[in-house]
Formats: sequence, C-alpha cells, structure tokens
Amino acid sequence: MRTEICDRFGIEHPIIGFTPSEHVAAAISRAGGLGVLGCVRYNDAAELDRALHWMDDNTGGRPYGVDVVMPATLPTEGTPVDLGTLIPAGHREFVERTLTELGVPPLPAGSDAAGGSGVLGWLHSVARAHVDVALKHPIALIANALGSPPPDVLARAHDAGIPVAALAGTAAHAQRHVDAGVDVVVAQGYEAGGHTGEIATMVLLPEVVDAVGDRAPVLAAGGIGTGRQIAAALALGAAGVWMGSTWLTTSEYATGMPASATQAALLAAGSSDTVRSRVYSGKPARLLKTRWTQAWSAPDAPAPLPMPLQNLLVGAAHERISRSGDPDVVAMPVGQIVGRMNVVRPVADVMADLLGELDGTLDRLGGLR
Ligand SMILES: Cc1cc2nc3c(=O)[nH]c(=O)nc-3n(C[C@H](O)[C@H](O)[C@H](O)COP(=O)(O)O)c2cc1C
Repeated sequence: MRTEICDRFGIEHPIIGFTPSEHVAAAISRAGGLGVLGCVRYNDAAELDRALHWMDDNTGGRPYGVDVVMPATLPTEGTPVDLGTLIPAGHREFVERTLTELGVPPLPAGSDAAGGSGVLGWLHSVARAHVDVALKHPIALIANALGSPPPDVLARAHDAGIPVAALAGTAAHAQRHVDAGVDVVVAQGYEAGGHTGEIATMVLLPEVVDAVGDRAPVLAAGGIGTGRQIAAALALGAAGVWMGSTWLTTSEYATGMPASATQAALLAAGSSDTVRSRVYSGKPARLLKTRWTQAWSAPDAPAPLPMPLQNLLVGAAHERISRSGDPDVVAMPVGQIVGRMNVVRPVADVMADLLGELDGTLDRLGGLR
C-alpha cells in the first residue's frame, strides 16, 4: 500500500506513529512507518538531544520525525518556581488528600523529584529549545500540537527543507494550518488519546479533507488501531494514518518508561474506560479513566487550573502514582482504541498485523464491486 505520504517521506507504509518513547519511534521507522518522537516531556533539551542521537544510531537510516507542543494561545511563561506561586493552596491540599485516600505512598525521603516537577514543554520557550535541538538532527518532519506553529518556527523548518505537520480538531483549524503554510494536516478525532476536540474521526476526516483540498495531504488520527480502520481512513480521503495509543502496549515502550502498571491498566481497559478531562494538562485531553481521574469529578474537587499550571500541580503526583505501581490509579493519556490493546507485543508485530488486515480489507472491498 503506497500513498503520496510514502513518497513524500521515503517510507514504505502510510503509517505515522506518535510516541513519547524513542525506542518505540525508532522501531516504527525500522518497520517501514514514520516514527515521531513526542518532545513535550523533555524539560531538559540536552536530554532530548541524547534521545535524538540514540535515534540517529537506531533507526537503520530510516526517516523519523519529532513533535513539539506550541499552543496557539500562549500559556503563561515562567520558571516552575514562579509559576508554582500561581497555584492555589486549596488545589495542593486536594491533591495531597486525594493521593492519601487512594493509598499512593509519598516519594521516598531525599528522592530526586526530577520528572515529578511537571511538564514544561508546552511553554514556547521550552518548545523552541526542542526545535533548536531537533534541527541539528536529520529529522524528516516537525509536527505541532494545539495550533499552527509560530511563523518563525515554520520558516526555520522550511529553510532546512523539513515539512511541518499540525494537528486539527475542526475543519477551520485545518484551514488555518494550510493558510499558515503547514504541509501536512493531521485530522484528529474525539476518540484520540491526548488533547482532543469534540468531533469524531468519522465525521471530522472528510470535513478536513474537503476543506484542505489539494493544498496538503491529510492524515487520519483518533481511534485507529486495526487494518480495517486504516482502510476506512483511506476511504474517507486520508493519505495515511497517525496513530498514538496503540504503541503504548508495545514491548519497546517498556524500555526506559515506567510501563508495568500502565501497561497492565491499558491491557485491562475497554473502549468505554477513557474520559476527556482537563486534569492532566489544563486543556481537554482523553485519559484512561482511573480512581485518580474519577477523584477530580467528585463534588468537592476543585476545577482544574489552566495550562501550564495544572500539570505543574499534578506533576509530582504523577511521579508518586507512577512509582506506586498501582494500575487502578494510573494517570495516562490514551484513546478509545484502548479496548483493542489487549496484548504486549513488538512494534514489528503490530505493523505486520495492521498491514495484513489492511490488505485483506482492500481485497474484500474490491470483491464487492
Ligand atoms: C500518551 C499520549 C501522549 C500524547 N502526547 C501528544 C503530544 O505531546 N503531542 C501531540 O501532537 N499529540 C500527542 N498525543 C496525540 C497523538 O499525537 C495522536 O494524535 C493520538 O494518539 C491519535 O489517536 P489514538 O490515540 O486514537 O491513536 C498523545 C497521545 C497519547 C496516547
């Protein structure tokens, strides 16, 4: 199966895989797709640089991309320390009380709180540092979540000959992206894991394809985890798919990530076990529904804070939750496709299944004529 996306990126299959893990991203590229490394979790640009050096050595010369998060509406800039002063005491008390009620132990005395300080990658200053680092590597794509990238970032990517993608949750977002000079639009439906809008992929995708016309290829995202769903996306006009959740239950994800409780929770979850909520980052994001997310919908729970304060508030809590190893309180973005993520296996096996089922589906549809 080849589409224009394969020619544009020099990949074998029109499958683009977003992942926060360099091990998964490299495996997706090695398997003939385009692995895209999510940079938002790298508060330290030097750490991102090390991850990209590792990818340079482990993608077998295949192309890969990066994803940064530059929201169209700028969140408050500042260091974690000054931003921390903007967090109300009542919110901190609620988090502490909830963790105690959920049986999440405190971090061991003297433990390094790094990684528990909250995500800062959605501040433009930090995301710009990600772009600076990424441009020193042989990347094939820069993608941006939460809006069109700022004009100077687009210009720098284009000067370096690198195409830019942006996620869109409405046809109007997609139009704004192509007007701004974005090269590839990712139409991301409501079902998707992570930050997501309110329109389902089945409705959104043809709207975006029609709105963009021949100005940019469109990738379908949200709820895709089987070859039949890839065939459906292509039928709706997509030039390929952009998948995120599915890779969370690959064997490669368990390398370098606190994966065991997370993967156990994801394997057990059904397609109705997610919730779209502002508790992760301050903007609506689809998450695994757990005792932690449910605590935030209790009548005494405070309203989540705006981005970036909410993740600074819950950053240390996420670290505690992750170290507790309890699948019932996992704090994890994932989409409704989680209901089909029922076994941990290598990326290459996931890709082989997707492609096998895609071929079978196209044959079946061809037989209907
Ligand atoms: C754990 C996780 C983290 C995500 N983080 C980001 C991110 O930092 N930037 C981004 O553009 N999209 C992010 N997304 C959304 C994905 O890029 C993708 O659009 C989405 O996962 C597609 O829908 P699916 O989850 O149904 O496959 C994330 C998704 C997941 C599951």
